[in-house]
This record gives sequence, C-alpha cells and structure tokens, in this order.
Amino acid sequence: MTEFTAEHINKEQLPLVIKPKKKGIKKQDFWELLKSDGDQLRKQLLTYGGLLFRDFPIENEDDFSSVIDHLHLGKYINYIGGDSPRDKIKGGVYTSTEAPPSIKIPLHNELSFVKNHPKHIYFYCHIAPEQGGETIVGDARKVLKAVDPDVRKRFSEKGLKYVSCYYRDSALMNMLNRFQRSHRSWLDVFEVNDKNEVERLCRENEFAYQWNQHDWLKISQTRPATMKHPETGEEVWFNQVHLYDFNPRLLGMWRYVAAKMFYCRDHMKLHEVFFSDHSQIPRKDLYHVLDVLDANTIYFPWQKGDVLVLDNVLAMHGRAVFNGKRRILTAMTG
Ligand SMILES: [Fe+2]
Repeated sequence: MTEFTAEHINKEQLPLVIKPKKKGIKKQDFWELLKSDGDQLRKQLLTYGGLLFRDFPIENEDDFSSVIDHLHLGKYINYIGGDSPRDKIKGGVYTSTEAPPSIKIPLHNELSFVKNHPKHIYFYCHIAPEQGGETIVGDARKVLKAVDPDVRKRFSEKGLKYVSCYYRDSALMNMLNRFQRSHRSWLDVFEVNDKNEVERLCRENEFAYQWNQHDWLKISQTRPATMKHPETGEEVWFNQVHLYDFNPRLLGMWRYVAAKMFYCRDHMKLHEVFFSDHSQIPRKDLYHVLDVLDANTIYFPWQKGDVLVLDNVLAMHGRAVFNGKRRILTAMTG
C-alpha cells in the first residue's frame, strides 16, 4: 500500500483507519488505488474485521457507490427480510436505520437471521452527528469467546427460530409509524407488492410463511446462533436473538409496555424468538448476551466523508443514541 497509511485508533484495533499519504488525492486516483491495493485491503479486512477510509474525497452517495464498486468485494444485495425502518436512496444504497434517536441499537451482524446474509456492510457519513450517533462496532470473534460457556453451548446446540409479522396496509400502523418509525410493511420488507413474489423470496431464503387476516404476513426461519467464517474458519457469534426479543432493557420500560399491549394479537406480533425446538429462551440468557455486547462495544466518532467497510461475519455494528442531525448511508454486498 504505497499511497495509503494504515493506523489503529483504539486498543481493540477495530476499525483499521486507512488514509491517503498525500493530502488532496483526486477521486480517480483513489479509485485506481482501491483496485491496485485491493488484495492488501482485503487481507487487512480479514485480519481486523473493519476498515475506515478517512480523508478521501467522498462527497455523496455516488462516490460511496464508487468506493464499493472499486473495492470489488461482491454484488449489491437488497435489504430483503430486514425490518429496521430505512429508505432506499439508489441501487443498493439505503439510509441507515431510521429507528428513534433515543434508542440504542446494540451490536449485531446484519441480517444474521437470513440464510442469504450479506458478506460485507458499508457505511458512509454524509452528515456527522453533532452529539452521539456513532456507528458502534465490535469483534464477533471476541463476543463469542466472552459469552458464558453454558449459554454458548445451549445456543449453538439448539439454534434459533425467528418469527415476525408484517402488515400490507394499515391505517393504524401508518399512524404509529408517523409518530415513531418502528414497523415495516411486507411491501417494504420484500421490496415487491406481489404476493407470489413474496412467496418466491420466502422460499429462496428458507422462510416459512403464512398469510393471515387483513393481508398480514407471518414468516419464520430457523438459523444457527454461531458460524464459522467461510475464509478464515474462525468461529463467531452470529445471530439477532437480542433484537428479536422485546424486553424492557432493549426498548425502555414505556416502549416495552406499549409494545406488549399493542402487539398482543397472534397474527400481528412484531417479533418473537425461540430456540429452534420452539422452547423459550431464558430472559437471563438474553440479558447476559446484551451485557457481553455492551462490554465489547467500540465507539469512534464519525467525520464527514468517512466510509466504514465491515466484514459482516467478523465484525458487528450498531448505533449509539444521538441528538440533532445525522445522515449515514449504508449498503451491503453478498
Ligand atoms: Fe444493522
């Protein structure tokens, strides 16, 4: 990497920060370097789990797409099956979660509950948050090692079953989303409006599906709780159990009570998670997982123009609470 410098900004060595050796690098030269130094960058990504490109001329979503294109890690994939509220900007570029700023999104691997999960996830800082709002990161290898051995054994032996329900068109849900964006329709989740196409995508991703009254859709899938990285063979914690369980610690007490009251009917329960034999997961296990994730959370402040590239198996991400403006875009490749 003759034209780049690589430096650590924290003791956890995540992310590795890549900067230009000379100030004022031109876009075209940057794209060429991403291609010519691609092998070295990919090696570093497999070692550290994440790279942060800083001080490069990345000014808008087109430049963000160019970084992804020139890194050449895979093809864009859509956010199908994901249920965090977000908007599509162009091609495979989305806003990062539009979940309320007062909710902390704990560490997770993107779409780890979906068979065709992304291999890489990218973030671009268009407007740096004034206060808080970091895209937090963590090492999924370290998280796995930090989980209590009994919990780890239980989860890896049993696997997980995720269940979720989505509406088609509901005045009540639209009103709720206007008040606080919290729930997506299946038209958004699958990015189609044809039920046959939804069913095809369900089969493709190994989701069981069931149509209920008023065009509500219930899907479920059984997935492992841990996995081995396909290239390095390292074992990682890879699941979304802590985001599928509604609990006071995740949502805060008033949101938890409201969610329990609102989503009480079986056909419209937003999220549920069980062990794959449908047995209940002890709440203390879930809280232990949240403790481990908190202890392994790394904060680093965004700077306008930063691009963060994460290996979605080795590295986890989330979002800190924030005040004021924040515009972070995201994309995924498979
Ligand atoms: Fe995410």
